[in-house]
Amino acid sequence: MGKIISFINQKGGVGKTTMAFNAAHALAQNGHKVLAIDLDPQANLSLLFKAKTEINIFHLLINSVKELKMHHLPALLGSIIVKSQVDLIPGGQDLSGFELTVAAINAPRQLVLKKFIELNALKDRYDYIIIDCPPTLGLLVINALCASDGVIIPFRPDDFSLKGMEHFYQVIEDVADMGIVKAPEVLLHIPNLVDLRRKQESNDLLKIIKSIESELGEGKVFSPFLNKAGLVKSLSSRRSVFEFKNQEFSELQDKFSGVAKKIEEWSHGHI
Ligand SMILES: Nc1ncnc2c1ncn2[C@@H]1O[C@H](COP(=O)(O)OP(=O)(O)OP(=O)(O)O)[C@@H](O)[C@H]1O
Ligand SMILES: [Mg+2]
Repeated sequence: MGKIISFINQKGGVGKTTMAFNAAHALAQNGHKVLAIDLDPQANLSLLFKAKTEINIFHLLINSVKELKMHHLPALLGSIIVKSQVDLIPGGQDLSGFELTVAAINAPRQLVLKKFIELNALKDRYDYIIIDCPPTLGLLVINALCASDGVIIPFRPDDFSLKGMEHFYQVIEDVADMGIVKAPEVLLHIPNLVDLRRKQESNDLLKIIKSIESELGEGKVFSPFLNKAGLVKSLSSRRSVFEFKNQEFSELQDKFSGVAKKIEEWSHGHI
């Protein structure tokens, strides 16, 4: 049975899409069958896959809800999914209307994505399903949380990131309190865009690591990703770090392989 892992942080620009894209490719490198789902109206992940986004996950989600289906054009998974080393269900601007569109349905609004994944037996078809989330804690992200087995939190260490994380943990607890699904486990935090030369930033990072470890135990914070020109270069050419060869990229490849290893180890403990 496949595992669903969401990359989440309500803050923008912390590296959710970058991490989701490269971690998905790292898992595929290891021989896993991987599906990426772009749940962000900005559709940055879909851009990285060079995917067209006119018909996208929004239409598939709406079509999976009986009460809404009759009011919308049919959308078929087979014609929307983009096949490559990592498969993709694209996102698109329409997703920003998701909350409003499902507002009046009788079926549980938080479970639309989970039901869609079940309906299409995606957990039987893939080893890993990686979801890239928008920078909010709105209904789309609640849907991601309710569908996921695990979450990964990329973050930039600063004064405010701890507060944001506490808020996020509260939301996970709220999901658990709803009592309809098992809340996902936070399997990893990834400090990103870290500048270790700045003393304040190193101090903030240490404080955050300590706080996470005291809550969750050791091994839940990955070694920091620094600001890497290579990463920007690879993203702007719409390729994963595994498509490049030189010293800087071999370091980045090792780091993302490390993230994949963490995911694999975690899944083995959750069969
Ligand atoms: N380690 C890094 N080194 C250099 N640039 C990075 C690094 N990580 C991310 N970036 C750059 O930072 C920007 C934001 O990254 P990304 O889009 O992955 O963040 P995000 O959390 O998905 O943003 P949003 O919340 O808007 O979806 C991108 O332009 C990306 O190229
Ligand atoms: Mg993003």
